[in-house]
Amino acid sequence: MNRPVALVTGASRGIGREIARRLALEGYALTLSARREEGLLRTAGEIAAETGAEVTPVVANLASDDDLRALVDAHRSGADRLDLLVLNGGVGAEGPLAEMPMKTYDLVLNVNLRAQFQLIQLCLPVLRETAALNPASGAKIVALASITGVAGEPGLAAYGASKAGLISLCETVTLEEHANGVTATALSPGYVDTDLTAWKRDSLARDAMLTAGDVAELTLAITRLSAHAAVPNVVLTRAGDQIWRA
Ligand SMILES: NC(=O)c1ccc[n+]([C@@H]2O[C@H](COP(=O)([O-])OP(=O)(O)OC[C@H]3O[C@@H](n4cnc5c(N)ncnc54)[C@H](OP(=O)(O)O)[C@@H]3O)[C@@H](O)[C@H]2O)c1
Repeated sequence: MNRPVALVTGASRGIGREIARRLALEGYALTLSARREEGLLRTAGEIAAETGAEVTPVVANLASDDDLRALVDAHRSGADRLDLLVLNGGVGAEGPLAEMPMKTYDLVLNVNLRAQFQLIQLCLPVLRETAALNPASGAKIVALASITGVAGEPGLAAYGASKAGLISLCETVTLEEHANGVTATALSPGYVDTDLTAWKRDSLARDAMLTAGDVAELTLAITRLSAHAAVPNVVLTRAGDQIWRA
């Protein structure tokens, strides 16, 4: 009953799937969520079969307050702790700021920032409880931001703004909650080879992108730190001739 427990959003594909898989290999029990049921159930079944981990899939749209509440309720009804909250689910939107419809802006900000704010609020009670049980490690939040939240990128105005907000949110969580044993880390990668970057493949080869495994490794490293360590933001850039470009 002392095994660690993680909740991972956006776990059906891409970075979230790989983080979930590696956490399961490390002995975590998992609550996994995504918007679409079919992919989520497939991934949950594959991870459980490969690792033997206890995996609970919960369908939840990050754009719905009710779904977020139901997700955290479902987690709490199946587990009495939460060692790691991985705020990974997110959407992209590419195009010039001058032409971006406000409904696209709203979707990106709601899914990439508002939902993360609300999930943190909803999970703080169980994160604090878990940290009190395990003061040496505490409880941790890892949020998938982006290098575009650190350095603006043409064509990614709304996306970059949402990720800059997420980086700031992680800092505030650590400042307000470290005394309760809870810290937050933003991970800020450049282009990672997933479905999200399919639009970019014409101008950037897939093998020039980061891998989901790179991001998963950083996530595992954060989980191994003591409660005395806080890592506000980790920038993971592509090896090449520009450090601060996606
Ligand atoms: N790929 C990159 O280059 C890159 C770089 C920096 C940061 N990131 C960030 O890393 C995270 C994961 O990206 P990825 O590349 O792995 O993306 P991805 O392959 O497109 O996967 C996105 C995941 O998020 C879920 N999701 C999307 N919209 C959702 C919604 N409204 N409600 C609930 N779940 C939703 C998807 O579930 P469904 O399939 O059910 O929709 C899927 O599981 C994102 O936050 C992204 O911004 C990515």
